Amino acid sequence: MPEALEMRDVVANIGEYRILDGVRLAVPEGSVTVMLGRNGAGKTTTLRTIMGFVPCLNGTVRLFGDSLAGLPPHRIARLGVGYVPEDANVFPNLTVAENLRLALPRAHGRAQAEEAVEQVLGLFPDLRQAYRRWAGHLSGGQRQMLAIASVLVSQPRVMLIDEPSKGLSPRFVDLLGEVIAQLRGRTTVLLVEQNLRLAAVAGERFTLLDEGRTVMEGPMEELLENTALQQRYLGVRVRERGN
Ligand SMILES: Nc1ncnc2c1ncn2[C@@H]1O[C@H](COP(=O)(O)OP(=O)(O)O)[C@@H](O)[C@H]1O
Ligand SMILES: [Mg+2]
Repeated sequence: MPEALEMRDVVANIGEYRILDGVRLAVPEGSVTVMLGRNGAGKTTTLRTIMGFVPCLNGTVRLFGDSLAGLPPHRIARLGVGYVPEDANVFPNLTVAENLRLALPRAHGRAQAEEAVEQVLGLFPDLRQAYRRWAGHLSGGQRQMLAIASVLVSQPRVMLIDEPSKGLSPRFVDLLGEVIAQLRGRTTVLLVEQNLRLAAVAGERFTLLDEGRTVMEGPMEELLENTALQQRYLGVRVRERGN
């Protein structure tokens, strides 16, 4: 069985700068894998390379065994890769319901659409409550939930989520962790996260990035037990543990 998502020896530039130089990761189907690394390590660039926004100059990116080499972002999205970028946007002048409906696959009939929305609302009680409200009136945390829900409702085979906890209150960070943990088995998630607490709640496996390369991968417990590793590659963020 091929991995849902696999990268090997990936090299990528932005302009003339080498940003990724040896990214390797394996995301098993149905798992939540967390990618960690300090600011500037290359996490966002890795997700953008998977999506085809940044060309992969060397190495391989595979989705369920098939190479994504040279495909444009819209083709990669159509193959079932959902992307929730950093500072994900929602449509502020539409309601929560309208945001979700807009994200549904066009081929869905009415019953199928209702079922897809219902399934997603089951994971996000906050959004069910705010279903008829303008997305622009939601809190930052609720907006982040809506951005994730909008991708989820399209039933992606693999979801890439970039630092969803950024700027959120501790209550929402915990909520997000629980929501993402519930995605296990429903879809496959590659979550970028600097918040070790959220990573610990949501993730089963980790991949650690530093200066554009993968330095370690393994079960989440290995990272949680290894404070030396946390200190070396995640630095000051370690202090957030147990807050
Ligand atoms: N548009 C850009 N132009 C030049 N350098 C960039 C650009 N985007 C990112 N970088 C550089 O690439 C490196 C990795 O950035 P990024 O992938 O955003 O890291 P992370 O998401 O881990 O914080 C950083 O050194 C950053 O300065
Ligand atoms: Mg980033």
